[in-house]
Amino acid sequence: MELDHHQQEQYQEQYQDQQLRPQNFSDFIGQQNTVENLNLMLQSAQMENRPIDHILFAGPPGLGKTSLSMIVSSLQKGRVHLTTGPALTKKSDLASIVASLGSCDVLFIDEIHRLNLPIEEMLYSVMEDFRLDIILGQGTSARVMPMPVAPFTLIGATTKLGQISTPLRERFIGQYQFAFYTPFELKIIIQKNALKLKVNLSEESLDLLASCARGTPRVANRILRRVRDFVVVNKLKEVHLPHVKEVLRLLELGEQGLQRMDQKILFYMGDVLQGRPVGLEALASYLSEDKQTIEDVYEPYLMQIGFIARTPRGRVLTEEGKKYLRRISLKS
Ligand SMILES: Nc1ncnc2c1ncn2[C@@H]1O[C@H](COP(=O)(O)OP(=O)(O)OP(=O)(O)O)[C@@H](O)[C@H]1O
Ligand SMILES: [Mg+2]
Repeated sequence: MELDHHQQEQYQEQYQDQQLRPQNFSDFIGQQNTVENLNLMLQSAQMENRPIDHILFAGPPGLGKTSLSMIVSSLQKGRVHLTTGPALTKKSDLASIVASLGSCDVLFIDEIHRLNLPIEEMLYSVMEDFRLDIILGQGTSARVMPMPVAPFTLIGATTKLGQISTPLRERFIGQYQFAFYTPFELKIIIQKNALKLKVNLSEESLDLLASCARGTPRVANRILRRVRDFVVVNKLKEVHLPHVKEVLRLLELGEQGLQRMDQKILFYMGDVLQGRPVGLEALASYLSEDKQTIEDVYEPYLMQIGFIARTPRGRVLTEEGKKYLRRISLKS
């Protein structure tokens, strides 16, 4: 099986310790509005002794969709069933999971935008009426046999909200878009995790780490783990700016956490195309990188920090992006 960049990241993380994954709402920093809404939904569901409404979490990789799903699940009294869109290939895959659901269980479907259509259609009545329609026979003699499903909660997570069809999307009562984290929020996350990893960071190192984490807790944790290695090997009591800079150099992370691929994108748009708009196809072929990865991983952050913008004619480099290019060309 060929893994794309995003899947590789997720697999890597599964093998690393789960030590840094937030276990409850108080460990989960940021996404405040979403957390408030979920708290309210959970409270009312508990008071009425029913599962909370179906929830959809959307946003770029590493922002906490899975973590928050697990926290919500742990607060319901049922069990959690985990699967992913691409893992459900046959209708019977979904049918057997759905048939095994108990009252107030959570079914978590990661990458829900990758469900195939027949399975997606099967989900409609399951979600809306807690009813599984089994089709017996074929053609004109086909009959529908409805089977009741225990009241449960479906939690879907996706990095591509736009690829989810309207009928499926509308069946999620709670829909939450995850935003990139502010440097302040990242500082809190890094501080908490540094404590867990027994890394003692100076204030300036903390600031620098937060500014290079691409607004993404997963990235923050990845850098922090490398800092921990550096601390262990060099027997450091406290981490200072030069240490962090050395780790960032090793990880090939530049100013604001930009990587070589980000720099290549900016260079192509600024120096090669001289600021002319570019489409995703052309960008992907110049970088020899797949379109999906550019769209999911690199572009959202470059747009977030205002270095590139999408226009009807294509992607363009912004003034900020041009300034950055001038800065790095002065340095090299
Ligand atoms: N709000 C948060 N507070 C603290 N740590 C967080 C938060 N969000 C994410 N993390 C950390 O970042 C890691 C990645 O988060 P998570 O796996 O939940 O992201 P995701 O949105 O599901 O990503 P993907 O789209 O790749 O599945 C977690 O293991 C956790 O350590
Ligand atoms: Mg996830």
